[in-house]
Amino acid sequence: MAICYHQSSLKLSSSYPLPNLFIPKSQSQTLTLRCKNLSSVSSSSTTLVTEPEPIFTSVKSFAPATVANLGPCFDFLGCAVDGIGDFVTLRVDPQVHPGHISISHIDGVGDSSKKLTKDPLLNCAGIAAIAVLKMLNVRSVGLSLSLHKGLPLGSGLGSSAASAAAAAVAVNEIFGGHLSVSDLVLAGLESESKVSGYHADNVAPAIMGGFVLIRSYDPLEFIQLKFPPNLEEKDLLFVLVNPEFEAPTKKMRAALPMEIPMRDHVWNCSQAGALVAAVLEGDLKGLGKALSSDRIVEPRRAPLIPGMEGVKKAAMEAGAFGCTISGAGPTLVAVTDDEEMGREIGDRMVEAFMEYGNLKASAMVKRLDRVGARLVSCIPG
Ligand code: HSE
Repeated sequence: MAICYHQSSLKLSSSYPLPNLFIPKSQSQTLTLRCKNLSSVSSSSTTLVTEPEPIFTSVKSFAPATVANLGPCFDFLGCAVDGIGDFVTLRVDPQVHPGHISISHIDGVGDSSKKLTKDPLLNCAGIAAIAVLKMLNVRSVGLSLSLHKGLPLGSGLGSSAASAAAAAVAVNEIFGGHLSVSDLVLAGLESESKVSGYHADNVAPAIMGGFVLIRSYDPLEFIQLKFPPNLEEKDLLFVLVNPEFEAPTKKMRAALPMEIPMRDHVWNCSQAGALVAAVLEGDLKGLGKALSSDRIVEPRRAPLIPGMEGVKKAAMEAGAFGCTISGAGPTLVAVTDDEEMGREIGDRMVEAFMEYGNLKASAMVKRLDRVGARLVSCIPG
């Protein structure tokens, strides 16, 4: 039996045509998928007629952390960050009832293993895996799944989305990669809607990598934004500062206003447009400025994150181009173009979390992940 290891920066399978998503002469490509019923997103997704056979006995996948919202783009824009994420190991298991998934093991950072259920119907990886099994029409093979959490729960780094994305890709790949990126996003969205809320701004970039704009939820349409590869020695760097404090997405969503003043709507829309333009142009200062500008969601969530305002101020005083809440928080994200400066900004933000919020925090400086969820190893059948 051979074990094949692959570079994690490359997609193992050709079934995710991510490099082809970039159209040379335009900035982006739109993917469209009908999705009539928001609570059962897989109902209008692909279902294979012929049941595929597994081509591997075991696969291991990885999906990256994501930063959603990016300030004014609540629920419709997110990006993937490299080097941190969740792993799923999946194997064909004759002990598991055919057509079913069993979650055999969960471990990883913090108390993930204690807090996460192994019930596949309630676990974010399990829900996405089952959705993909249904799309593939698998009825004769049982699978066992092991989840390694690299991301803390309720951190604002797309923890549930990373588990769902890694699981969706693992199931698809073990059966030969028949599903499209859109199908995998739908499977991930089914999981997100059950455990976190109906939003794809984490799971789409976790699967696709880079920046992904959710243009519409009904029908589901998303656009991968092309961020320029070379920025004259400068690189987009995310300073992610995670305090020891949990902010469940459901709770942070409950804090949002039901109505917004027209002037805030106009302001946020113009800032979101400016942010998209900055991404496409590789304008890091413009990106930071727009990222900092949310007048609708951030003001409601900031009071729920102890010290948030002071930490944002510290980031800006240390030279960040912009700073906001990552996803639903409590992680804060700042943007810069220099690694040394990024570490300095992170240190200032960690100090400010203690000073203004009495919270311990840790900082990391990360780049954009342009690849998204991928296989990292496999054992052929
Ligand atoms: N858009 C979602 C929210 C992201 O802000 O609630 C959660 O990570």
